[in-house]
Amino acid sequence: MKHTKIIVLGALMMTTTSSIALAQNAFNDANKAVEYRQKAFSVMQNNFSAMGDMVRGDTPFNASIFAARAQDFAAMTSIPWPAFATEGAKPGNNSDALPAIWSNWADFTERAEKLQADAKNLAAVAAAGVEADTRRAFMNAARNCKACHDQYKD
Ligand code: HEC
Repeated sequence: MKHTKIIVLGALMMTTTSSIALAQNAFNDANKAVEYRQKAFSVMQNNFSAMGDMVRGDTPFNASIFAARAQDFAAMTSIPWPAFATEGAKPGNNSDALPAIWSNWADFTERAEKLQADAKNLAAVAAAGVEADTRRAFMNAARNCKACHDQYKD
């Protein structure tokens, strides 16, 4: 009887330990990971299109608004990737992520890093406030989106 209790207690302790480990991994649930990265992309896109509107002339170019958007855009470019990186984050329901991501992980990661570098550069250039330079830096950052989506997004 005593022996059984010890085994039960041991099993309970193991369960507790493993649920703590799970809780530390925010992306263990595939659906939550998908939702997380899609929301991150969506906030990133929101800043991106506000700048795009100015670059196209749909809204007047405003250097300080552009600089603020560029800063938030740059901050957001680092957010989606961890939600691709763990086992639980592989395509779940409602995802447009293609399996090619995980069979070309190094290339995918490189593209994600290039986006972040170009976005950081855009934020720095936009902060200086010269419109022509800002437009060029924007176009540079913009190229990353389609290039990656063509390969890795449905
Ligand atoms: C390194 C690859 C990569 C780069 C670079 C990239 N994306 Fe994506 N993007 C993805 C993948 C993969 C998905 C699909 C995610 C999913 O559905 O799980 C996605 C999804 C999206 C979505 C849809 C989010 C939703 O609500 O479902 C938007 C919007 C988006 N990206 C915008 C952009 C913009 C804007 C850029 C450039 C500034 C960009 N992305 C750059 C890989 C990338």
